[in-house]
Amino acid sequence: MSKHAKILFTTDNKDLQSFIKTSSGEFATLYTDNEIHIMVKEVTEKKQKLDKVRMIAGSIARELTKRKIEQAEINGADLKTAFSKLNENKTIIAFVEGWYLGAYSFDKYKTKTTAQMTSLTFTDENDVKNLVGTAKTRAEAVQFSRDLTNEIPSTLNPETFPTILKDEFANTDVEVIVHDKATLEEMEMNGLLAVNRGSKYDPAFIELHYQGDASKPLITLVGKGVTFDTGGISLKNARDLSDMRMDMGGAAAVAGAVKLLAESNANVNVVGLIQTVENMPDRHSVLPGDIITYKTGQTVQVGNTDAEGRLILADGLIRAGELKADYVIDIATLTGAILFALGTKIGGVFGEEELMAEIKEIGDENGDFVWPMPLIEDYDKTLKSDYADFSNISNQGTAGSITAALFLRRFVPENCKWLHVDMAGVMDSKESGYYGNSATGYGARLLADYAVHASK
Ligand code: BES
Ligand code: ZN
Ligand code: ZN
Repeated sequence: MSKHAKILFTTDNKDLQSFIKTSSGEFATLYTDNEIHIMVKEVTEKKQKLDKVRMIAGSIARELTKRKIEQAEINGADLKTAFSKLNENKTIIAFVEGWYLGAYSFDKYKTKTTAQMTSLTFTDENDVKNLVGTAKTRAEAVQFSRDLTNEIPSTLNPETFPTILKDEFANTDVEVIVHDKATLEEMEMNGLLAVNRGSKYDPAFIELHYQGDASKPLITLVGKGVTFDTGGISLKNARDLSDMRMDMGGAAAVAGAVKLLAESNANVNVVGLIQTVENMPDRHSVLPGDIITYKTGQTVQVGNTDAEGRLILADGLIRAGELKADYVIDIATLTGAILFALGTKIGGVFGEEELMAEIKEIGDENGDFVWPMPLIEDYDKTLKSDYADFSNISNQGTAGSITAALFLRRFVPENCKWLHVDMAGVMDSKESGYYGNSATGYGARLLADYAVHASK
């Protein structure tokens, strides 16, 4: 078995019969005595996109890792030539980022340890050193989000989540503040307390403070951290349940984004706000019909206990106001409806048109794709309740993602710029490019890059 691979690019496809077609590109593998040559077929100018570079790199890294190849080498200059339409530095970063993410696997619960990742070296190493460092930082942040999201619910729950984040951010510039149940009662975080009532664990509200530059606008990132969503008393059906440990994907995105910002010493002023609960049916659970009074005085009748994400995000949005945030961006695995609207490759974003356009451009480049969604004023009244100020569900069975966003909008602090990202469709993936059969780590790059953009 060869122990070494060379990654080469070809425009001359004639001699190569055995291209492996992957969703991200075509490669051929040619064996010599002690080497494998990975021939990457030319990517036409029109199809040259940074995410294509990541996808190709991810596919190769996974393929070689599976074949237990220890080391692969590539020439940075060749890579730049192959993607001449793209920015040179960004191409190198994208390739390395895709490589590390493609080789990622979550195998801590497998007794047989899988293969060591194939390492990547550049033949022109000195020219690309800094770029490789940047790429690794980005990949590690996404991997951290993936690890959190893949984690099993008995290991990652509202009581362990704070410790996991404290450990992760020990000896960094990130200050982790945890509000426990007693504090939450004092702070009147009543959405969080209501949703968590059926759980054997105490809820927590976790703040991740990173002040790279205190003079910058305060950007708060609010993440839904439901460590398991059974639906509560409005119980889900069995089929829906399997992935519901990933209902903290928004919280994972926030944690990954803060990690990325801190590790890259970004000049931003960011606070991550994570609400973590477990949505369980129990004799103590919040019941349909119950009414929650928020700290702002707003009252909400719980029409369906499975629409729990918006109930806890409301507390996060209120907290952003207390901190006098200039921006609040919330991210959540909020609605099944967004999966039907946009599928599994792209998240939905809601908010002011100008801000949506900015974040879309960022996602188009960094691979965390978003598509702007409308906040249709007329649908707001469908949240009405006969007993409270409003309900947590719409009385119309359609536009579930929009009405969820309209619910959140009612809690956005005054004079605070707001974006809401619904990532329910993109929290996990099937093997393709730099994605595996597990959590995507969606949102870490999107939020971090947006924070940097908004701080310019
Ligand atoms: N966590 C779910 C949304 C979800 C669904 C995430 C599928 C990932 C994959 C959320 O809490 C939920 O249950 N939403 C309900 C809302 C409804 C009861 C108004 C939904 O979308 O069906
Ligand atoms: Zn739910
Ligand atoms: Zn949920």
